[in-house]
Amino acid sequence: MIFILDTATVLDIAVATLYVVVILIAARFCKPRSVVLVGLGCVALTILSWVLAPPARPSAETLINECISIVTIGLVTALALHAQQTVSTLRNQANLLDLTHDPIFSRDMDGKILYWNRGAEELYGFKGAEALGAVAHTLLQTTFVTPLEQIMTRLLREDRWEGELVNRKTDGTPVVVTSRWSLQRDNAGKPALILETNIDISERKRLEDSLQQAQSDLARLNRVLVVGEMTASIAHEVNQPIAAVVTSAHAGLRWLDAQPPALEEVRHALTRIEKDGSRAGEVVSRVRGLVKKVPPRIERWDLNEAVGEAVALTRAELLRNGVVSRNALSSDVSLVMGDRVQLQQVLINLIVNGIEAMTGVHDRPRELTIRTARADPDTAMVEVCDTGTGLDPGHVDRLFQSFYTTKAEGMGMGLAISRSIVEAHGGWLEAVPNEPHGAVFRFTLPTRENAQASAEVLRS
Ligand SMILES: Nc1ncnc2c1ncn2[C@@H]1O[C@H](COP(=O)(O)OP(=O)(O)O)[C@@H](O)[C@H]1O
Ligand SMILES: [Mg+2]
Repeated sequence: MIFILDTATVLDIAVATLYVVVILIAARFCKPRSVVLVGLGCVALTILSWVLAPPARPSAETLINECISIVTIGLVTALALHAQQTVSTLRNQANLLDLTHDPIFSRDMDGKILYWNRGAEELYGFKGAEALGAVAHTLLQTTFVTPLEQIMTRLLREDRWEGELVNRKTDGTPVVVTSRWSLQRDNAGKPALILETNIDISERKRLEDSLQQAQSDLARLNRVLVVGEMTASIAHEVNQPIAAVVTSAHAGLRWLDAQPPALEEVRHALTRIEKDGSRAGEVVSRVRGLVKKVPPRIERWDLNEAVGEAVALTRAELLRNGVVSRNALSSDVSLVMGDRVQLQQVLINLIVNGIEAMTGVHDRPRELTIRTARADPDTAMVEVCDTGTGLDPGHVDRLFQSFYTTKAEGMGMGLAISRSIVEAHGGWLEAVPNEPHGAVFRFTLPTRENAQASAEVLRS
């Protein structure tokens, strides 16, 4: 077309320069070799049309015009080749950006996404076509840990920013990222675009959180064990003076029965009793002081989970005594309020009592069942049931008195302490017979009401 026009026109215009368009189109779609061929072809056609239809009045001017056309075609071919080279380098670099799994994208100063790599597609789930042109922070529902204005001020001042952000995927799942922003300026130094690369640290965050949770669980468990250990050592310390009191009392009685009664010896026995009695008292008040130093922690916790933990802590005892434990935990029981450690101690006391009540049982299975249920909207209930010796109907209330025990090694403090802990939380603890054998120890806990009141009681 251009060739015909060039050949047909008699005007002195350089129609041949229209070949430039052909070369640019070739550069857009063809390989460099073909572009060179097209360039040479255009030069040849220009010369050919000069030969076929020379100007009516050839002059130096028309010759110069012709030369300018040819030089222009040559220059444009060279420039087009160079541009093609640059584009292909850029494309290769962009492909390299696609190789990384980290999301990389760029956006203009209005936040519109200009580039979106495969890593970004993979992490966030938005395809390039959806992302390009969208406003980045809207698309990713970014939550800024540091306010955006602060980030922008810093970015404009230092040309870079690094920090933590929370983005959301297509399905709304949050992703925590370490984000690096770099500000690109145009030739005039005006901010032009922001390049953002993100590293997904959600998994690391999750691990950190669970580590922290594990640490606090461990601390709590430690407290449970310390309290348990303390109970054992108190038993030992209190038992000694009490045993001495009993021995002295026996001796005193014997001296009284003597003929004549040896009153001086009786006095000695009574003095020893007084001394040992106050020693036992001192131990108890020392322990009280110790316990008071651990401030109660009123928090909401999962009752069923705490039951599971208490069973796990007594697992060795259960096994050693051939007791099968079953949990019947109601999913209707939500969170309860109170000091988890103290209430776990109650659970452990009841479980250990249950185990001990079954040591003499040989003609039936030794079963320990822990049941949780919702007693009413504001109250949760826990039952520890055993198939042990059961309760003496006339003496059920005596079980809860301090120092009441029927065991050779017992201290008789477990139920007394358990009842005061439960009552301090606004609940109650009672014992009823189990059918057909054994006992049920049942206590309640508030799920929300009274929580404040019990917190006050516990603190006082
Ligand atoms: N599950 C149970 N079945 C039968 N009797 C129990 C049960 N739990 C506790 N008792 C009775 O209550 C008493 C007091 O228990 P406790 O206060 O825990 O002290 P200890 O266990 O040191 O004896 C026990 O000695 C026992 O006679
Ligand atoms: Mg006990």
